[in-house]
Amino acid sequence: MRKNAAEIKIIKSPAALQKFSKKMQAQGKSIGLVPTMGALHKGHASLIEMSTKSNDITIVSIFVNPAQFGANEDFAIYPRRLKADVKLCATAGANIIFAPEPQAMYPLPLQTFVRNPSIEHLYCGKYRPTHFAGVLSVVAKLFNISLPSKAYFGEKDFQQLHLIKKMVHDLNFPVKIIGTKTIREKSGLAMSSRNEYMTQKEREAASSIYAGMITAKKTGKSLAELKTIIQKKIQQAGGKIQYIEIANKSDLMPAKTTKNSVILLACYFGKTRLIDHLEL
Ligand code: PAJ
Repeated sequence: MRKNAAEIKIIKSPAALQKFSKKMQAQGKSIGLVPTMGALHKGHASLIEMSTKSNDITIVSIFVNPAQFGANEDFAIYPRRLKADVKLCATAGANIIFAPEPQAMYPLPLQTFVRNPSIEHLYCGKYRPTHFAGVLSVVAKLFNISLPSKAYFGEKDFQQLHLIKKMVHDLNFPVKIIGTKTIREKSGLAMSSRNEYMTQKEREAASSIYAGMITAKKTGKSLAELKTIIQKKIQQAGGKIQYIEIANKSDLMPAKTTKNSVILLACYFGKTRLIDHLEL
């Protein structure tokens, strides 16, 4: 249900949120968690709305997690704007924003990590070798702090969603993972907090990513042909490919055919790294 920004409670301390969640649990209230890094857009709003529809309490975490950024990545410049985010969360019906400082989440350097050595080095992991250990570890912490019965993640980050589902399954986390569809601009560009790094021209050119994947899906016959179609379309628009791969949807291993598979890619427009996917 739509709320005013003033009705949302901002909690900064992990211990305080855990105490609140335990109280809610004791009262029989269901908790939905939407983990984010802030700079919220309509893609995030769709996750929050989905949570508010089926849970008594929706917690949105806003934490730019240093552990998932590589040394030369955009941690320092990642957009941070809590005030606007609070408004979006209120409109989408959230009850609590969990916005801890890095010092509160990592009072001491993390020594214990959740990792998936079978998949963390594939696709995005090949170029961001410490990224998924950082993601899984912070998501595990957020689950233990927020105690949700359901947690919402976008298919936008397809490899991330797969890894989180696998972590929950492998480690018996008592939380149901709900994956949701990617929200796109009219141009087809997947919404992302990182889109705002791009110039208007780059943003327009980046619509070639989705257009390329759609054309490939329609006309490409072999895996190699599909990749070539996308590659050409992105390069013609001025983008630089990092990788284009096709994986099995079920286990994310490299696909041998297009059946039950998904295109995964990362590319650059200017200095901005973008990822996208399309199920085949
Ligand atoms: P962030 O990039 O802020 O994304 C938060 C959630 O919103 C993720 O589950 C992501 O898949 C989803 N999302 C982003 N863009 C979307 C779009 N266009 N349509 C639908 N959903 C979208 O992903 C992260 O943060 C972090 O890695 C996190 C899981 C919070 C761990 O730090």
